[in-house]
Amino acid sequence: DIRGFIFDLDGVLTDTAEYHYLGWQRLADEEGIPFDREANEALRGVSRRESLMRIIGDRPYSEAQIQEMMERKNRYYIELIEHITPKDLLPGAIALLDELRQAGIKIGIGSASKNAHTVIERLGLADKVDAIADGYSVQTPKPAPDLFIFATHQLGLEPKQCVVVEDAAAGVEAALAGGMWTIGLGPIERVGAAHVVLPSLAGVTWTDLRTKLNEAAR
Ligand code: G6P
Ligand code: MG
Repeated sequence: DIRGFIFDLDGVLTDTAEYHYLGWQRLADEEGIPFDREANEALRGVSRRESLMRIIGDRPYSEAQIQEMMERKNRYYIELIEHITPKDLLPGAIALLDELRQAGIKIGIGSASKNAHTVIERLGLADKVDAIADGYSVQTPKPAPDLFIFATHQLGLEPKQCVVVEDAAAGVEAALAGGMWTIGLGPIERVGAAHVVLPSLAGVTWTDLRTKLNEAAR
């Protein structure tokens, strides 16, 4: 029986994926490194450090320069998320959260971001969630299952009692590795490994999801 839902934040409940992109793009431009929206697609759900490593490739930066660039990108990102309001919730997010809560299902957030608490506050979600696992919670990033496992513990549930909602390939992989039910949002090429794939949360209800997950279980 499903007792908990764990939502990824960036790209699932809100489109901060766009702000991460803008932050990386500004940094890459300053460094004269080729980067674009398409290259950024591969960074969805990828940790800050790993994202930077993929952007710089084999360019010979020192550890100090890497640290500075991570901090610089984060400053740009923090500037961008300052303006977030509940209007930045993606379509369908609040309706689903409210329906789940009414059904007695626990709700957690499992985000690799160290800025997750700020974003959750600004979105007005702080009172709607029972647990938050963020970029400070575990050492090993997605695709390792650690972050989602941490969230299941916070909820007091077993992985198999939980559904993870993710927009990133690394996140789907993490949830499957952790033994959770997995809903992928986005194109099949990105999230096709999930038990259920949907374009977004728009119009999605718990009643529908339960049916789809039961079908996937057979
Ligand atoms: C999420 C986002 C990634 C981001 C990561 C770290 O997983 O999808 O794009 O790189 O969090 O976020 P942070 O705010 O700590 O740099
Ligand atoms: Mg995401």
